[in-house]
Amino acid sequence: MKINDNFLKIQSSYLFSNIAKKVNAYTAANPDKPIIRLGIGDVTRPLAPACIDAMHKAVDEMADEKTFMGYPPEYGHKWILEAIAENDYRQRGVEIDESEIFLSDGAKSDCGNIGDILSVDNKVAVCDPVYPVYVDTNVMAGRSGDFVNGGWSNIYYMPCTAENNFLPCLPTEKVDIIYLCFPNNPTGMAITKTELKKWVDYANENGSLILFDSAYEAFITEDDVPHSIFEIEGAKTCAIEFRSFSKTAGFTGVRCGYTVVPHDLKCDGVELNSLWARRQATKFNGVSYITQRAAAACYSEEGKKQIREIIAYYQNNAKVIYNGLKECGFTVYGAKNSPYVWLKTPDNMGSWEFFDTLLNEIQVVGTPGEGFGPSGEGYFRLTAFGSYENTVKAVERIKNYFVK
Ligand code: MLT
Repeated sequence: MKINDNFLKIQSSYLFSNIAKKVNAYTAANPDKPIIRLGIGDVTRPLAPACIDAMHKAVDEMADEKTFMGYPPEYGHKWILEAIAENDYRQRGVEIDESEIFLSDGAKSDCGNIGDILSVDNKVAVCDPVYPVYVDTNVMAGRSGDFVNGGWSNIYYMPCTAENNFLPCLPTEKVDIIYLCFPNNPTGMAITKTELKKWVDYANENGSLILFDSAYEAFITEDDVPHSIFEIEGAKTCAIEFRSFSKTAGFTGVRCGYTVVPHDLKCDGVELNSLWARRQATKFNGVSYITQRAAAACYSEEGKKQIREIIAYYQNNAKVIYNGLKECGFTVYGAKNSPYVWLKTPDNMGSWEFFDTLLNEIQVVGTPGEGFGPSGEGYFRLTAFGSYENTVKAVERIKNYFVK
């Protein structure tokens, strides 16, 4: 046999697994020092009661032979696809047909799996820093080239730095696939409709595909920031959108997301929608009935209200971190439309050095910017997904340690 030796090119461990290992080792050696985890963007609030009720009801249905269900429809039950089309799109003035929506076990899987329907010969562009899944999955697929001088030779990096307000510049060479995530993970910065239109125009003019990850859209507070790329005219001929219930409704442990592939999106006359439909029908067996019921409950009146309250709770945490660090004299970004706060490390500390200092000295865990790409060096990410009490405590610890 032969293995896929592209796997030998990447770091043996995924960024967040790496961090978890370091933290577990610290905890094992220091059991008396409680840690505050603001590293991985994992939620801590329980699910909305509307989702819980829907799940209980669905469990009872599965217990009764009259209502029991086996395999779910591979792309999602009609009622949830309708709820998504109505609430996430039509109510924002966007017409998406249910046949353009594919329910899945989450945006992370879809972001990685989408590569199955795209040639390995495509030139990929990513923001730098970037959610590592976009890069790692392209390395696994053989699109990356070799790792030279801190970057992949066949990946086009678009630095997002303080100088460009963390917004990528349009590529100066032709690229085929462009990953955009807004509001952004990791920087927490958002893109306006006007700015996003430039990307849509670029993609349409160059025959490029935009893979738009809007997992964090629920955190948007500003009117000129789009929740969906399909709010931008022309996007249906050049974009695929990934959505998640993880950050919106606390489904990181439940697992549910969806991908929108418009029928208008074609390459040499072939609809990408039909390729993705084929891929999903072959390699994915649908989202469990219980999970689909929980996800659909997010769109009920009480579900929407409860979810808004949970998001507001995290938004307040984001403010606590942002304002608290600012008061300490840190340079901070993000938070306004996002659960992430992106900070400049003090005294030019390396981002892993800063990580070690926070872990060892004050037992606060965050994510080193360098883990998201070379331009993340010198930065650090904290998430607002902790409890309010822990968030306040973490900011206090940082204040006490750094403000002498
Ligand atoms: C993150 O911390 O960047 C996210 O939680 C990762 C993810 O959503 O997979």
